[in-house]
Amino acid sequence: MSSAIDSVLTETRVFGPFDRVAATANISGMDAYRALCEEAEADLDGFWGRLAREHLVWDKPFTRVLNDSDAPFYRWFDDGELNVSANCLDRHLGTPTANKTAIIFEADDGQVTRITYKELYERVCQFANGIKSLGYKKGDRAIIYLPMSIEVVVAMQACARLGITHSVVFGGFSSKSLHERCVDVGATLVITADEQKRGGRNIPLKSAVDEALSQAGTEGVRHVIVYRRSGSSVEWKDGRDIWMHELVEGQGTDCEPVPVNAEHPLFILYTSGSTGKPKGVQHSSGGYLLSALLTMLWTFDVKDDDIFWCTADVGWVTGHTYIVYGPLAAGVTQIMFEGVPTYPTAARFWEMIERHQCTIFYTAPTAIRSLIKAAESNDEYHPKKFDLTSLRIIGSVGEPINPEAWMWYFTHVGRERCPVLDTWWQTETGVHILTPLPGVTPLKPGSCTLPLPGIEAAIIDENGQELPPGTGGFLVIKKPWPAMIRTIWGDPERFKKSYFPPEAKGYYLAGDGAQRDADGYFWIMGRIDDVLNVSGHRLGTMEVESAMVAHPLVAEAAVVGRQDATTGEAVVAFVVLKRPVPTGEEAQQLARELRDWVGKEIGPIAKPREIRFGENLPKTRSGKIMRRLLRVVALNEEITQDVSTLENPAILDQLSQAY
Ligand code: PRX
Repeated sequence: MSSAIDSVLTETRVFGPFDRVAATANISGMDAYRALCEEAEADLDGFWGRLAREHLVWDKPFTRVLNDSDAPFYRWFDDGELNVSANCLDRHLGTPTANKTAIIFEADDGQVTRITYKELYERVCQFANGIKSLGYKKGDRAIIYLPMSIEVVVAMQACARLGITHSVVFGGFSSKSLHERCVDVGATLVITADEQKRGGRNIPLKSAVDEALSQAGTEGVRHVIVYRRSGSSVEWKDGRDIWMHELVEGQGTDCEPVPVNAEHPLFILYTSGSTGKPKGVQHSSGGYLLSALLTMLWTFDVKDDDIFWCTADVGWVTGHTYIVYGPLAAGVTQIMFEGVPTYPTAARFWEMIERHQCTIFYTAPTAIRSLIKAAESNDEYHPKKFDLTSLRIIGSVGEPINPEAWMWYFTHVGRERCPVLDTWWQTETGVHILTPLPGVTPLKPGSCTLPLPGIEAAIIDENGQELPPGTGGFLVIKKPWPAMIRTIWGDPERFKKSYFPPEAKGYYLAGDGAQRDADGYFWIMGRIDDVLNVSGHRLGTMEVESAMVAHPLVAEAAVVGRQDATTGEAVVAFVVLKRPVPTGEEAQQLARELRDWVGKEIGPIAKPREIRFGENLPKTRSGKIMRRLLRVVALNEEITQDVSTLENPAILDQLSQAY
């Protein structure tokens, strides 16, 4: 743990509580919230055990709640058995929810498809039967590389139904990233599409799969199931490749769900850490689903007539929890969107809220900030031009939301009637951890407010000492919770080192700097490790550096984040070439080449915004790159910090001028 963060809180505005929302809220006020917190504090096992019995359907009831005998590898409900897909679909059959719309799917081109819970159940069963007919079974691992579609929900649910652990790879990742994940997870099945459609463009997926599977280490993949989205022609490998529509043809519309242990890995989702290799975050079945469902009820306060919309991609944890598992377990109607917020115009989100009468809207600060920009430059894209009165709750996730963006969202989208839920959580936490509750929490712009019931969060210093309000430090969670990460797939040591280092004294170390104010509210200050947050996407600086040095011309590279008004952070790379420092047109040409290279190595989201060439990098006498100085150089600010340990001070001038 390195830098402690100290900043003075200046935000004093408070909004709410919101009577209109509070009147019907599932957690009806501060007293009800406190009662739940106290119940959990008094008896953690009793609390989570009660909720797991009340909210999930078990094939074999559990008798033990938390098993901490192998801490920090905590296990929950670990002698119980259930099936996640049955808890999302079968439970609604024979109830009025069966004929309710599960998903309103709006395609990139505006075409709308609706599917009821009963129909979704049948589609999932047919696909599960198809996969089963190919010989796949519980314990196998499938890579899913699909666009936003009803099909991706079907694929994930079908895997869950059979006990096949899925690992979804975001469609924006390159074939190289896909290959790494296929190998690491030991996939035997890949589910993909011919192409994806985003913002009026077709982007190939199948060809990336072909390329990934042509590389060593993927010989175990027996089949590639292909959803036909665009109809473009694709290369075909007979015996391996199968069209999804052909596979499901004639398959039965019932498929017995396979009961799995509550600890059975439902999914593995890769996320960036502070070293080059992404971590396969392993999640459970029982504990994960319980909390996914509870946060739908608590945070989003869902009711039977809600129209819920989470704009995330299913390739990220937000899409897993708040598109594929939470909303379905809760039996809510949700909107799912294939495209991007700016196509065909930057009014797309507001039009869709109006068109589908959305009541709960959940998006990312980066989207909000770019839509603010668009609305300010053209009134036609301003939310005030649209009827957004259906909204009851609006939420934010993925990165800190700056108070100005918060106020705009609250004023122009929520019309000062809807609470803004700034939800803090991570791939590893599985679900919301720190968040306001609609009927409970007075809001402060820029704060994710208070922990959910059952969560004990704190701020500690580098010695594990708890810090008082107003002092910046490291955010930790003091007790295990059901949806927490179980391990890093194949690397338990890295799991312990990353999340339970000795300095954290047995607490879960989140990797974020934060502080509390006098009311106990949490304020997140950003990552404390070498992880960047670009447009809400997590990116390791080492990951980008490894990609850059893989280029034949690059000798050395250092990557830092620079604050950016729209994307939160932007990637700035400092590069030493194996040839003299380029200038002018040559430098521009090489920078373009390197950006594209990183795009191919990781994916377009990782492309550096700016690349600066130098003869060397600022290093200490022991050869360590001084990134804190590079952060200042990236901002084009003057260096006022101590540079006495720097081996080569002149390099700072060169890199400053390189821009
Ligand atoms: O730094 C925090 C930031 O995003 C990180 C987690 O990223 P990821 O695993 O990709 O999950 C994103 C979606 C849950 C955190 O360590 N972060 C997430 N939500 C917030 C946030 N930072 C501030 N405020 C938030 N509400």
